[in-house]
Amino acid sequence: MLQGKKILIGISGSIAAYKTILLVRLLVKAGAEVKVVMTTASKEFVSPLVLATLSKNKVLIDLASEDEWANHVQLGRWADVFIIAPLSCNTLAKMAYGLCDNLLMAVYLSATCKVVVAPAMDEDMWHHGATQRNLDIIKSYGNLIIPVGNGELASGLVGEGRMAEPEEIIRFVTENIFRTNTLTGKKVLITAGPTYEPIDPVRFIGNHSSGKMGFAIAEAFYEQGAEVYLVSGPTNERTKYAGIEYIPVNTAADMYSACVEHFSTMHIGIFSAAVADYTPVEVASEKIKKKEDHFSVALQKTTDILAEAGKQKKPNQFIVGFALETENELANAADKLYRKNADAIVLNSLRVAGAGFRNNTNQITIINKKGEKVESELVSKKDIANQIVSYVIAHLYES
Ligand code: CTP
Repeated sequence: MLQGKKILIGISGSIAAYKTILLVRLLVKAGAEVKVVMTTASKEFVSPLVLATLSKNKVLIDLASEDEWANHVQLGRWADVFIIAPLSCNTLAKMAYGLCDNLLMAVYLSATCKVVVAPAMDEDMWHHGATQRNLDIIKSYGNLIIPVGNGELASGLVGEGRMAEPEEIIRFVTENIFRTNTLTGKKVLITAGPTYEPIDPVRFIGNHSSGKMGFAIAEAFYEQGAEVYLVSGPTNERTKYAGIEYIPVNTAADMYSACVEHFSTMHIGIFSAAVADYTPVEVASEKIKKKEDHFSVALQKTTDILAEAGKQKKPNQFIVGFALETENELANAADKLYRKNADAIVLNSLRVAGAGFRNNTNQITIINKKGEKVESELVSKKDIANQIVSYVIAHLYES
């Protein structure tokens, strides 16, 4: 999502500027092209050399040097977004009243791109009437304000005014500036994670699924503008975007109920959960005590959610199933494609080192009923998620 984006970072004088170093690094790592403009005061907090090295671009501070004039108009037109982080009280006031006594302000006043600010101040300054009024003024100009955090402040006080963390700034900018319209109006249901089938109040049958792949797919669909419903079994993953409708469940039966409730209104269904195929016939109400040498639990089949969706699928719905195979991989995946009436199956192989459960990387092959086969490299689950979304976008109107 940030690949190739042109991001201009403005740094004003605040101790929180140390966090901007990481922000620049993360943006560059995500493939963005980053340029930095600083106020003179901010040089007291972070070194331009560090920022120039990380951004791979000369840091701009002065409106003009002896033989050169910094083209602030060109900078504001070059950027896809101008992020001012940290935003000090002083720079905020200048933005509200249009003062132009440094390069950062000249760039701000001539910027044609969206401007996002991450304020950083002490709690009393943050709550001052002048600050709040200035924030309202810059909001009225169309600037976006990233909420401050609550916690320990440079003064030693604890309260509101902390600059948002770099990851939060990136999430805010991705969601508010770079989310595309490609899938606007499309509703997507995604199942993720394992399911836990209880045996008694303390034990369950589960599996090694982490939910990482499903969460990455949900985020990738959301970034393309879709309305996303994510039904997940127990997981440590958290949705990055507040706009994703997150429906946590425990058992296969819970997951099925949640899907039944939503599926009929969806355009796309991605069934990536590792749903238990069997569940205990009875759940003991008390903890089962150790007695016999051998112990068995009677199991019964769960409802196959993907197969049910395949049965109910209307012509305007596109569904994708997953297959994790250890032998006869393609043949087994093709069998699932037809048996469950999916439009495509994403085949994961446990044979590839670094792919599958718990890993941050994956390698997949997508097959469809036309016999087409799209194979990915071993890449991050985020990249795999983007490839799956691109595949769905390309094939959505085919079937
Ligand atoms: N699936 C589901 N509900 C179930 C079981 C599976 O929705 N109760 C979905 C999975 O989310 C996945 C696909 O079905 O998209 C494949 O699951 P898998 O367990 O591999 O398929 P099975 O039909 O159980 O085949 P087998 O266990 O024989 O490989």
